Amino acid sequence: MKMEKIMRSKVKDLLNAAPGRDVLAKGWVRTKRGNKQIKFIALNDGSTIHNIQVVADMEKFDEDLIRRITTGASLCVKGKLVESVGSGQAVEISAEEIEVYGDCDPVRFPLQKKDTSLEYLRTVAHMRPRTNTFGAILRIRHAMAFAIHKFFNDKGFVYLNTPIITQSDAEGAGDMFLVTTLDLAEVPFKENGKVDFSRDFFGKKTCLTVSGQLEGELGATGVGEIYTFGPTFRAENSNTPRHLAEFWMIEPEMAFYDIDDNMDLAEEFVKYLVQYALDHCMDDLRFLNDKYDEGLVDRLHSVLGISFQRLTYTEGIEILEKAIAEGHQFEFPVHWGTDLQSEHERYLVERHFGKPVILTDFPKEIKAFYMKQNEDGKTVRGMDVLFPKIGEIIGGSEREASLEKLEQRIEELKMDRKNLEWYIDTRRYGTVPHSGFGLGFERLLLFVTGMANIRDVIPFPRTPKNAEF
Ligand code: 4AD
Ligand code: MG
Repeated sequence: MKMEKIMRSKVKDLLNAAPGRDVLAKGWVRTKRGNKQIKFIALNDGSTIHNIQVVADMEKFDEDLIRRITTGASLCVKGKLVESVGSGQAVEISAEEIEVYGDCDPVRFPLQKKDTSLEYLRTVAHMRPRTNTFGAILRIRHAMAFAIHKFFNDKGFVYLNTPIITQSDAEGAGDMFLVTTLDLAEVPFKENGKVDFSRDFFGKKTCLTVSGQLEGELGATGVGEIYTFGPTFRAENSNTPRHLAEFWMIEPEMAFYDIDDNMDLAEEFVKYLVQYALDHCMDDLRFLNDKYDEGLVDRLHSVLGISFQRLTYTEGIEILEKAIAEGHQFEFPVHWGTDLQSEHERYLVERHFGKPVILTDFPKEIKAFYMKQNEDGKTVRGMDVLFPKIGEIIGGSEREASLEKLEQRIEELKMDRKNLEWYIDTRRYGTVPHSGFGLGFERLLLFVTGMANIRDVIPFPRTPKNAEF
């Protein structure tokens, strides 16, 4: 059957359109119900969480064609947009012509009502985006990515693309994935028994980046304010609902910002993103709120009208030690000098302050080499933004701007300087006070969508022992 040429409309636009005109819609069947005289087909094209109802009068259609319209099948429908008589929608399509693009075997269809658990959906990559849940998440993920670019563009920041293949272990944690073309069956060794990376593709040892920050600092100390937004990779063996081996990070870096300016920007940034989600993604948020997390929309509102609680790490430890003295039990020990676990972070945020917290001034031993050293000789000017249900969502700092102090820290940590000279040069030629931070994109999405597992806010999650699709 040939369709007369009408412009195709997205379901989202049709649902908001005035009835009366001829329309063309394309999408996948969610459900079909009805009787011998009339069929009601719920059609979705991914443009919105809502379906458009297609009404097919059986007098106009061939039985065989209607039989092929099963859940999951893809259709092209021409008809008139009319006021809906049924409840639940303002308009519907009174079908005149229907073409089935692709049949979908109802017996073998992998999205049966009986198993649509989030765990199961992770195993059917082609079906995941067809579900209401993942459709909502993908649309919100897109809206947040767009809002991130808009936020920084409106402030005059330059989007800087930093390398994915790198030799620098910015965070010094050593949990990097090796990038090599060496034949693993015939690895060349040097006399000292170490791998001879001079024979490798790049002539040196290279890895996937854990952060674009160091390169970002080079950009910021030239064009002033930059941000990166790209994939980062960490080979840490953390099988938690908050860790991915491949995740996306947004890293702004600003010349002439001190730690307070940095905190102000971070707070403004996340509030902007939450507000953007509330303004632009309400249909999807409501769906997620009703299906998974009753407190979601309220929690999003709750971070907007208030100031985040700012306190030092030392003050945070005092609060946690007091909680323990009063009988609160944590799984992990906590005392001055330990890195906080997410249970400690969440205690501060959810139990003690009841709002997001920005912790600053950490013991230098638990933070990276580039953080500005405080006068006390013990702490560095780092900042972590902690959020309800998530814990750390942002990590950042004012950077050590003094060449001497930076070199001394690199030495103390016995880092390999030879791969860092290009970075150290920024402190040699016109160094400036500067700051920056990294927002974990999927951690942000955990907060905005209310999902409990980080694997469910990224299209193709990579975690230990899992790199499907
Ligand atoms: O705190 P991190 O390690 O900081 C940095 O990488 C700095 N270079 C950022 C900067 O100052 N430019 O990581 C930043 C954020 C964390 O707060 C967290 O939200 C996220 O990245 N993150 C992860 N997200 C998912 N899976 C993981 N394995 C993550 N590791 C960090
Ligand atoms: Mg961190």
